[in-house]
Amino acid sequence: MSANPPDEARLTVPQIAARKGDAPLVCLTAYHAPMARLLDDHADMLLVGDSLAMVLYGFDTTLAATPDMMIAHARAVMRGSSRALVAVDMPFGSYEESPAQAFRNAARMLAESGCQAVKLEGGRRMAETIGHLVENGIPVLGHIGLTPQSVHRMGGFKVQGKRRAQWAALEDDADALVEAGCFALVLEGMAAELAARITARIPIPTIGIGASPACDGQILVAEDMLGLTDSPPRFVKTFADLGAEIAAAAQSYAEDVRARRFPEDKHTYAAQEGDDDKSPLPWRRGRRA
Ligand code: KIV
Repeated sequence: MSANPPDEARLTVPQIAARKGDAPLVCLTAYHAPMARLLDDHADMLLVGDSLAMVLYGFDTTLAATPDMMIAHARAVMRGSSRALVAVDMPFGSYEESPAQAFRNAARMLAESGCQAVKLEGGRRMAETIGHLVENGIPVLGHIGLTPQSVHRMGGFKVQGKRRAQWAALEDDADALVEAGCFALVLEGMAAELAARITARIPIPTIGIGASPACDGQILVAEDMLGLTDSPPRFVKTFADLGAEIAAAAQSYAEDVRARRFPEDKHTYAAQEGDDDKSPLPWRRGRRA
């Protein structure tokens, strides 16, 4: 069952596809409701990326993400947002075997999360599968260049297309994904000249990450640009240093607790006469009295 009914205020897949060559698309990852709530007003697309395996769960690669993890986080992002298009990553092992396997998992992920599109990694080798998903109603965001699910084949998280001899293969990948029906294409970790060439070559928006300012949009992992991850990649611009702010806040909290300065009277509840509790406690957002 869908977590959310279709929301007319949300940006749609055709609206994102129509942004080719237009104002740059602003995209960010989001893994949970509070972050989605903060980003929703500013982003055209939120991606529930399988990078959550590394960023949230502390694994060394994205390979540990599972459909169940992706669905749980995608549902939370849908609940926290109302405006941005939300796409969810198909995790490693959930789509490579056959178009039928990909459809089964993608359909489940969209139906159970309420997201509008899936993203999957790979160029020509995934074209048949993407064609099958699109024909059967599932919008697909492609992803080529540095594809983190292939980290072991690449021998690390390596920038792709640094040598001109590699460009034709990546351009063929982009063409194949357009032909298969992708509505947009993530270009990750790719020589800037090549990303600009692919952007100029294909009729769908390219969304760059470590790629080129010429792309039709940009995406970053939100935690990277907020200063919440250790040693983010060189292509990340840190727009806030929340990691340092959180550490400082934790230190102040610890000092206040140890000095018995917290909680103060205003943070506690007085006992009241009688058995009948007429004042529901203002615990959490959505449950306030
Ligand atoms: O998993 C992810 O977060 C991604 C983006 C970085 C494009 O694939």
